[in-house]
Amino acid sequence: MVDIHCHILPEIDDGASCMDEALEMCRLAVDDGITKIVATPHYNPDLFNTSLKKVPELLSKLKVAVSEAGLPLELFSAAEVALAPGVLEKVRTSSSLTFGGLENQIRYFLAELPANVLPPNWDSYLLSHYSEGLIPILVHPERDNSIAKRPEILDKFIAGGGVLQITAGSITGELGERALHTSAEFLEKGYVHIIASDAHSSGFRKPALSEAARVASDIIGREKAQNLVIKNPQSVLSGLRFSSSENLHC
Ligand SMILES: [Fe+2]
Repeated sequence: MVDIHCHILPEIDDGASCMDEALEMCRLAVDDGITKIVATPHYNPDLFNTSLKKVPELLSKLKVAVSEAGLPLELFSAAEVALAPGVLEKVRTSSSLTFGGLENQIRYFLAELPANVLPPNWDSYLLSHYSEGLIPILVHPERDNSIAKRPEILDKFIAGGGVLQITAGSITGELGERALHTSAEFLEKGYVHIIASDAHSSGFRKPALSEAARVASDIIGREKAQNLVIKNPQSVLSGLRFSSSENLHC
């Protein structure tokens, strides 16, 4: 399985607290059947003093630790980009904020909406460079109050090529009753393209996808559930386009 949303790099945001914990998260991921992880630190200048310049060095150190520990795990990096005025220009011109480098024809990026306030035209803004190959992946919409109340507001975003990622802990119930209910509803509607861990530690919110894939199988069938943790996230990593509206049941 491929986990494209994980706060596994140490001491850069609210994720892994140190290199030992980052390595323990890698061990847990391998035990769960994960073979590739994309480290996605927050890019939100209002909340985190994240210096993405540190990412290559931290990623290299973690790769060395993983190799020395003999873990069969590949590591990559991108970012979780908070929606803010002008941020898309940064995404467009920086390879550290997207999956894949500037030379790639298709580049996906993780987009996080502000908590509990849906900015006007958020969907068309995120899709504004879609024709140039810049594809937004909306992270954990099932945890957003305003979207949970009116899921149909996602239709335009998905129809326009936007991708939806829900959190494994929402589907398993780890993140509470409301996220559990909403994520099941999104799966039934065919809104979900990817399940990711959004792991922050080796304890609560740890890197794991297998239980979520099992629960999703009960709702949408095994083959479609496997696509959400293997095929689709691999397409993101490889810069390949996939039809984001092919699962829609509405
Ligand atoms: Fe995250």
